[in-house]
Amino acid sequence: MDTGKNYKESDLAKLSYKEAPKMITSVPGPKALKILEDSFKSESMARGAGRFPMVYAEGKGATSVDPDGNVYIDMAAGVAVNSVGRCNPRVIKAMKEQMGTLMHAGDMSNVKRTELAQKISSVMPPGLRDNAITYFTQSGSAAVETAIKFIRKITGRSQFVAFHGAYHGIFLGGNSMTTGNQYRKDFGPFMPDVIHVPYPYCYRCCFGLEYPSCNLQCAHYVDYVLNTPYTGAHDVAAVFVEAQQGESGYVPAPPGYLEIIKKACEKNGALYVSDEVQAGAGRTGKMWAIEHYDVEPDMITWGKGMGGDVPMAGLSMRKDLAEKVADYSQPNTWAANALTCAVCLENINILTENDRALINRAGELGAEISQQLLEGAQSSPFIGEIRGKGLMVGIEMVEDKESHNPLNPDTMINLCMELLNRGVISFPCGRYGNVIRFMPPLVLTRKHAAKAVEIFLESVKAAVK
Ligand SMILES: Cc1ncc(COP(=O)(O)O)c(C=O)c1O
Repeated sequence: MDTGKNYKESDLAKLSYKEAPKMITSVPGPKALKILEDSFKSESMARGAGRFPMVYAEGKGATSVDPDGNVYIDMAAGVAVNSVGRCNPRVIKAMKEQMGTLMHAGDMSNVKRTELAQKISSVMPPGLRDNAITYFTQSGSAAVETAIKFIRKITGRSQFVAFHGAYHGIFLGGNSMTTGNQYRKDFGPFMPDVIHVPYPYCYRCCFGLEYPSCNLQCAHYVDYVLNTPYTGAHDVAAVFVEAQQGESGYVPAPPGYLEIIKKACEKNGALYVSDEVQAGAGRTGKMWAIEHYDVEPDMITWGKGMGGDVPMAGLSMRKDLAEKVADYSQPNTWAANALTCAVCLENINILTENDRALINRAGELGAEISQQLLEGAQSSPFIGEIRGKGLMVGIEMVEDKESHNPLNPDTMINLCMELLNRGVISFPCGRYGNVIRFMPPLVLTRKHAAKAVEIFLESVKAAVK
């Protein structure tokens, strides 16, 4: 894989199954159906995939196979996780070496853990680079939860600001900042003192304005909330922001927006936390999505693509902040298991070697995919907007381009089934569940990318009338 600055498509192709897509049965096939039936009877369907009918049996690079032998182009990457590809041979090698050496060490120091903490500090964005202290967790949700706890101690303040459309995880604090109805309804009461403010979802601007003539009124509104008396924001500890929102529709903040938010935080004395769990680890064409903006975060929560095939997440904060958190105040039995550290280290190596060639490629390939989609979208009345940075592409589906009315849920299901049956794994997100997201492994070949776009456009024609 280490082929120099420009990745050779032929080398990347070796990481995936040769022939993809290759469909033998309809989805789910008989073997997958049996597994799904058993799964529905034995597992809580509160899980992220609910009853989505894809069953994984094998995975390689940017391709996956189901139990019936159907081979798919995987535009989902386990929800933006398998950045260096599933079962990457280099990762497997690192894993095998570590498995024979040490895996669990409790929450004590281990050789790989220290190496990883140092490595992470070296790949942080400006402001945190070579100045970051990391706390390890096993999920993005746990990273956010820990951040909330630490920030209360660091600042001595109690309130948190989050955005409409935000997704920050499943535990009480993160869930309280998360806005999706399905995660909230009937699960309250939530953590008190969370203030929600508008995110710049320009396709559906809550102020009815247009960028850039809006002059980023939504950002100035957040500044007003944070820095004006009588807004209820009297004790804000931190603002949690996704530089590109994930769950609520792959919505990137427009240029200039986050800079205003950061300044508002500084004026207020609140910390700026960049939640990079989904958008980080190279996915947007930069190591961290915040690097597309002129903003130095105080803290980053990360996960997904950093661990890839194994659960690894954490938060990284400025040293002076970390010093304010008491020793022994947050034990975590499985944190930084040596095996997961070895994998994360190899993932970071693959992502960042050769001047971040794979990450740069993600930026380029994402732009190519978006361009191909845009060309196809011209003749479709149902593709409202294509947006996103790098390999975090959102395709907003609508009833028609004039009204922007979201495509209805039943048709979205049909569209996803059409995609699956033609051999492309992808599923929706968005405030109305009407955004198809392309979040493939960064090692996706250009050939597979073009095929996935072609299949998507065919699927729209077949499923959306
Ligand atoms: C921005 C963001 N934060 C936090 C989380 C929670 O991460 P996890 O599912 O690993 O707990 C996610 C998951 O999708 C996310 O996208």
